Amino acid sequence: MIGDHPHDVELAAATGAQGIYLLTGHGQKHLAEVSAMLRVWVASDLNEAVTWIVSGRDPLEGKREEIQKAAEIIRSGGLVAFPTETVYGLGADAFSPLAVARIFEVKRRPHFDPLIVHIADPDHLGRLVQEVPIRVRKLIDRFWPGPLTIVLFKREEVPDLVTAGLPSVAVRMPSHPVALRLIEEANRPIAAPSANPFGYVSPTTADHVREQLGDQVDLVLDGGACEVGVESTILSFLEETPRLLRPGGLPVEEIEEMIGRVEVGRTNEETPLSPAGCPGTTLRGRPSSSVNVKAIPAQQGETVGFLAFRESGGAMDQPIEILSRDGNLREAAANLFAALRRLDVLGLDLILAEPIPEAGLGRAIMDRLRRASHPDEWKEKQEYAP
Ligand code: TXA
Ligand code: MG
Repeated sequence: MIGDHPHDVELAAATGAQGIYLLTGHGQKHLAEVSAMLRVWVASDLNEAVTWIVSGRDPLEGKREEIQKAAEIIRSGGLVAFPTETVYGLGADAFSPLAVARIFEVKRRPHFDPLIVHIADPDHLGRLVQEVPIRVRKLIDRFWPGPLTIVLFKREEVPDLVTAGLPSVAVRMPSHPVALRLIEEANRPIAAPSANPFGYVSPTTADHVREQLGDQVDLVLDGGACEVGVESTILSFLEETPRLLRPGGLPVEEIEEMIGRVEVGRTNEETPLSPAGCPGTTLRGRPSSSVNVKAIPAQQGETVGFLAFRESGGAMDQPIEILSRDGNLREAAANLFAALRRLDVLGLDLILAEPIPEAGLGRAIMDRLRRASHPDEWKEKQEYAP
């Protein structure tokens, strides 16, 4: 049974269904009412629910006990790395400053950056922020759970360490079933940055996390490779006009379609942008779409790897990672960080990256590439030559 309302549960029970796939948005509001009666899985859309039913597989199969253990760790002030649809997060109880302090310790951040607080129910937003404007309601009805983070004025109870002393807090409801279940079981919001050491690229698999943070985390929950692959879009509502603080997994075009024009970039010291995530190897932009290795402007004897957006033919003897053979932006975003890691471990002198068309998810990908490379490497806006 797929439904999103209490009377769908009655129908499900009457027809002898074993459970119900609750759709998000409206469905989330009724989670508490339905879960007492039937087994409930939360699906982010119809397609996902149908896929689960057809495959006959419980999306959390074999994970329940581990998630319970993880939730217990969160409740007792520990750290759990967990999957989200964007990247893996390093989570702690958002209301425990001590637990949150451990996040900074493990990430070895030189300063405190504000963290995103993750919730499993849109109604819990009210516990964290002072007021939810109507246009924000509209956005979260449509895009939560998903890769959209909302910045609003915080309630006093939210610890200063979570917000780095800012009067605002960033909140999002992830769509990954493991993340949702973890937050529900922990029964409290979870503060989490991406689960990478300070300055490095974000992890998109559990192995990435284990390799880099391994024994410093109490538990790493494995939920497979992240579907979206770049971090969430961050949108601030502290001013009259909404402001895009970080392009990400939800294209800003989709947001503007719903609530009108959005300002881009930060205004003042109070709205920090997310820090850079860099591979160890020097990364440079290459303003060309043709992968002609002979034309790579490398110094003599320099070893060079190539991060290509799409397949363009021609053999290469240098290492190359192709983000998406047929130039699909979703696929490219999902592959971005893993591809950068694979190039980074080769010990090259240089990684050259091909520009991506800057529309939709392409904005987020180019934003990450700019941050990961020397500031002068990319012109402010790349023209894309197909
Ligand atoms: O997709 C994501 O957003 C992932 C997953 C784990 O949810 N999280 C993530 O967290 O990317 P992190 O810490 O790597 O980046 C969060 C960014 C920070 O760089 C910070 O600048 C911004 O969110 N941020 C957090 N609170 C803020 C606030 N109150 N005002 C402005 N920016 C804020
Ligand atoms: Mg990060």
